[in-house]
Amino acid sequence: MNSPRLAVLISGSGSTLQNLIDRIEDGTLPVEIAVVLSSRPDVFGLERAQRAGIRALTLARKSYENIERFNDALHAALEPFAVDLVVLAGFLSLFQPRERYAGRVMNIHPALIPAFCGAGFYGEKVHQAVIDAGVRISGCTVHFADDHYDHGPIILQGTVPVLDDDTAETLAKRVHALERELYPEAIRLWAQGRLRIEGQRVRILPARE
Ligand code: GRF
Repeated sequence: MNSPRLAVLISGSGSTLQNLIDRIEDGTLPVEIAVVLSSRPDVFGLERAQRAGIRALTLARKSYENIERFNDALHAALEPFAVDLVVLAGFLSLFQPRERYAGRVMNIHPALIPAFCGAGFYGEKVHQAVIDAGVRISGCTVHFADDHYDHGPIILQGTVPVLDDDTAETLAKRVHALERELYPEAIRLWAQGRLRIEGQRVRILPARE
């Protein structure tokens, strides 16, 4: 059987992409990355893709007058790659699933949605907001993405403590370690056909014998 084909969408350093590449290479993630798309030129994530021998394309968000035209271009660029799942990996623009990818777009957010998420909540800003709010736990969320930032049926969540002397940087580190486990796990479950979307909820089906 052919491996499911992923598109990984990035905007930055691509540490999430690198983690997926590593898991595929060590044989624990049974998928193939067909293409990497970046919304920004010259980011390190593109270099990571090239090093791994993955096709990498840049579609600069700035070159498009609005999010719809940008999404027209993204969808057109994805078309020839016959992708089964779109994986958002630090992608800072809005990817609109449209009909073709409904229920086939995953995102990871470095907090427990529906808190500390949405437009403007990215990178260290998320962790600083968590610390400023004084909450005792944070974590990360893998979810199917819809037309809104950080929104859609939740697949997996994991938690980490927020410590008294945490900075955005130390908290980010703890959350990242969890992200590195949870994203591949969610993609693995999807690849095994074990995720069923029921409205806003995701049912995780038992492993087949
Ligand atoms: C991670 O915090 C992830 O949750 C968020 O983007 C960050 C990683 O960016 N969606 P990158 O993969 O290093 O570019």
